[in-house]
Amino acid sequence: MIETRRHQGFGPTGVSSPGKVAFMCGIVGYVGPRDARSVILAGLKRMEYRGYDSAGIALVADGHIDIRKKSGKLANLVAELESNPIPASHQGIGHTRWATHGGPTDDNAHPHLGAAGRVALVHNGIIENFATLKAELSAQGVVFTSQTDTEVAAHLLGRAIESGLGLVEAMRSVVARLEGAFTLVAIDSQTPDTVVAARRNSPLVVGVGQGENFLASDVASFIEYTQEAIELGQDQIVEIKPDSIEVTGFDGSPATTRPYHIDWDLSAAEKGGYDWFMRKEIFEQPKAVADTLLGRINTDGELVLDEMNIEVSELRTIDKIIVVACGTAYHAGLIAKYAIEHWTRIPVEVDIASEFRYRDPVIHRSTLVVTISQSGETADTLQAIRHAREQHAKVISICNTNGATIPRESDAVIYTHAGPEIGVASTKGFTTQLIACYLLGLYLAQVRGNKFGDEIRSLVEELEAIPEKMDQVLDDLETVLTLAGNSLSEPSILFLGRHVGYPVALEGALKLKEISYLHAEGFAAGELKHGPIALVDKGLPIFVVVPPQGRDQIHDKVVSNIQEVRARGARTIVLAERGDEEAMAFADVFLPLPVVPTLFQPLLAILPLQVYACEVATLKGYDVDQPRNLAKSVTVE
Ligand code: F6R
Repeated sequence: MIETRRHQGFGPTGVSSPGKVAFMCGIVGYVGPRDARSVILAGLKRMEYRGYDSAGIALVADGHIDIRKKSGKLANLVAELESNPIPASHQGIGHTRWATHGGPTDDNAHPHLGAAGRVALVHNGIIENFATLKAELSAQGVVFTSQTDTEVAAHLLGRAIESGLGLVEAMRSVVARLEGAFTLVAIDSQTPDTVVAARRNSPLVVGVGQGENFLASDVASFIEYTQEAIELGQDQIVEIKPDSIEVTGFDGSPATTRPYHIDWDLSAAEKGGYDWFMRKEIFEQPKAVADTLLGRINTDGELVLDEMNIEVSELRTIDKIIVVACGTAYHAGLIAKYAIEHWTRIPVEVDIASEFRYRDPVIHRSTLVVTISQSGETADTLQAIRHAREQHAKVISICNTNGATIPRESDAVIYTHAGPEIGVASTKGFTTQLIACYLLGLYLAQVRGNKFGDEIRSLVEELEAIPEKMDQVLDDLETVLTLAGNSLSEPSILFLGRHVGYPVALEGALKLKEISYLHAEGFAAGELKHGPIALVDKGLPIFVVVPPQGRDQIHDKVVSNIQEVRARGARTIVLAERGDEEAMAFADVFLPLPVVPTLFQPLLAILPLQVYACEVATLKGYDVDQPRNLAKSVTVE
């Protein structure tokens, strides 16, 4: 099996998150007996998915801060450190950047210095009032060496330190002046064995070691050293020393924290012999789906959702559901609508998170808002949650990241247990989000009495059979790989589907666009004749997702759609149930899928489309895990 998976670049040869301007960065802090340089570089390597246009490191040695920073990928920083070594140290910070204010240059790379080099600071987020602060500092004679908003915070910190405050107090005084979203992590050359950080609307976790402690945007950064973590709350400051972790609020009050155990290890955060994280994550889907389904039926045969902190009585009064998400997660939401409406008869709307607030949605106490987010940090989705809760709606989030901001700010959460998703293009994130949506739909049907227990159990059993069927699809990829090899010079590729196949078409097109930079569009197959069919020309490749044969009406309609485009010269690549002779008759290429209920077909139909996109991008020589202009999670609106 592994041989098939490693076909054409599936081997251990290659390398290791949207919008255009500002997304996210990766931050690491360390204090302890290890070589800080190695710990920080290893951490940054695993955070590079968060930003990769420049990187930097600052260490304290002998009462002195040494700093190295370089534009470009982390490899440039590593080369710089080889040619210009940095003194050994046990206390330091590092940063991998995705430019917000100021282009990706050496000068704009973090860390930034304050107090004539006495303090160094890294930052994730956006300081919205930086222009005012910069003008104020400039008027006081501060000279700026970068175009970043971050340098303002570094100078403020430096001045606070120079005024005699300790590092924690100085940080407290800085955050009091800032507006916007930020994680700040800082060191002071005169405060040994200490790293201090602050967070507002931007992620930060503490890794709890033995005689050493870590700070990072993401636990993957320190998973090699410890699986124990503490999630920092909103508006908190943390001071780590080798033997202590102290957390306080921005106002200085003692803070409560939530320690947790990370249930995956280093191997999950590494490529394990695959050329790309994305490829590895595609093949992890059977396990990720099985893990997400684990333990959902109790000894009485009922469906249970662990962190469903919403009273059953409240769920019974829900009269509308609004699913809110972005990108791939939005596509999962579109599929959720079909399933939840079918099982519960509750009307479901699906919104792109960035549009949600602005359409002034009708929300009442009896509205349930369901948000979907792999990272749990997507700013558009987070703002949608805040808006929904202000309107007194209950919010359930579906999330893959324990302790992230989105689940923390929701009334209830359904965690997907996909493990870390590092490739920028979401794959196992998507399929596990679908599982969580199905579970939520069935749970609502259970508590509202729309379905009998045995019906629910039988559907859960169908879901439990999915991982094996996913394996079947992933073991039979020769046709997809050949297809990818023949697609490299295509100017455009279309994807069609109907019913739940329509969001699959959208997702297939998104995967291809984002990593192979090919023009691709997904359409509802029935919409084609209302305009897009004009695009169809001789030889245009069109993927068509055909519903299972049981859905005779839609099935036959999609088969007619295939004939329509074929008659106009399109080359049809048909994904349909194994043995579907009618669909096969009009397929230039036929990709068979195992038999599953219609609502669950997306779990299988998306797999060949993910593999196809991954392979096209690989063959085109692109960086599959870090596509241009994209970052893994989008922590600004
Ligand atoms: C595409 C992709 C994005 C994300 C979107 C939401 O492959 O990954 O479209 O799905 O940015 O991200 P999360 O799920 O982290 O909120």
